[in-house]
Amino acid sequence: MTTTDTENTITTDPITSSAPVARLRHPRAIRWLHWVNFPLLFVMIWSGLRIYWAEDVYALGIGSWQWFAFFPDAVYETFGLERRLARGMAFHFSFGWLFVANGIAYATYLVSSGQWRHILPDRRSLKEAGQVVLHDLHLREQAPPQGKYNAAQRWSYTVVLAMTLVIVVSGFAIYKPTQLHPLPLLFGGYQGARLVHFTMTIGLVLFFLIHVLQVARAGWNNFRGMVTGYEIERRAAPAETNTHHDDTSDRDSAVDDATPPVVGGGSTRATV
Ligand code: HEM
Repeated sequence: MTTTDTENTITTDPITSSAPVARLRHPRAIRWLHWVNFPLLFVMIWSGLRIYWAEDVYALGIGSWQWFAFFPDAVYETFGLERRLARGMAFHFSFGWLFVANGIAYATYLVSSGQWRHILPDRRSLKEAGQVVLHDLHLREQAPPQGKYNAAQRWSYTVVLAMTLVIVVSGFAIYKPTQLHPLPLLFGGYQGARLVHFTMTIGLVLFFLIHVLQVARAGWNNFRGMVTGYEIERRAAPAETNTHHDDTSDRDSAVDDATPPVVGGGSTRATV
């Protein structure tokens, strides 16, 4: 077993041009915080819907014409959400603290480790995000060069993290509107904060659906990266080098963690 040119990459002997290498993609803290967030968010949405059921006021439409009401009775019945207001509140206000604690831990880690650099869009991200989308739609042959995440991911992760912050702040505004006055004024008052809180929830659900679809599309190797930390890459020979994978020398490096394990097998790297 030989450690290769980057401290976080390892491969089996001998190194050939196409030797499979395990490359650290996600530090342990990111993985734990990511996976803890998933059930917490689930409980927050599930309990939040139980609270919303008690006064389900929102609908899409124009004037008196209503296209879609949040939510049809079938939704409440299917998920067993009706007549559970008190239980919904109990769960929401208990798990909310865990959700906030996990978010603070994640934000602290991102800042202290420098991992935020992989996530925040840089000056090229706006243009490149469009190119990534065109590439994903098979309308553009070459994907733009990327670091740990492609430009579209940077934008979507940054937006979803900002939405999470907004959902927490608006949540506090409607949780204790009097005690935390003037917090609700940030959203134009109690009703505004409630609407923002609800809208962000819908946004997070949409993000979640797209995120999971993209993860499925990117494949097992990518998913495994978020579970074990390591992604398996097959080194491309110079002639085969694809800028999509390797033109990261001037971009951020994805790796910064502990000793990786021995690996075998291999596949090409996919991106979400
Ligand atoms: C079944 C649920 C989920 C799966 C399978 C999943 C999977 C993944 C995977 C594989 C990555 C790494 C992508 C890559 O390396 O290119 C990732 C990153 C990420 N996911 Fe998820 N995810 C899930 C739920 C969520 C939820 C609920 C959120 C938040 C609302 C979320 C937010 C993020 C963020 C912000 C990142 C970037 C993390 C970082 O590098 O700091 N994910 N996810």
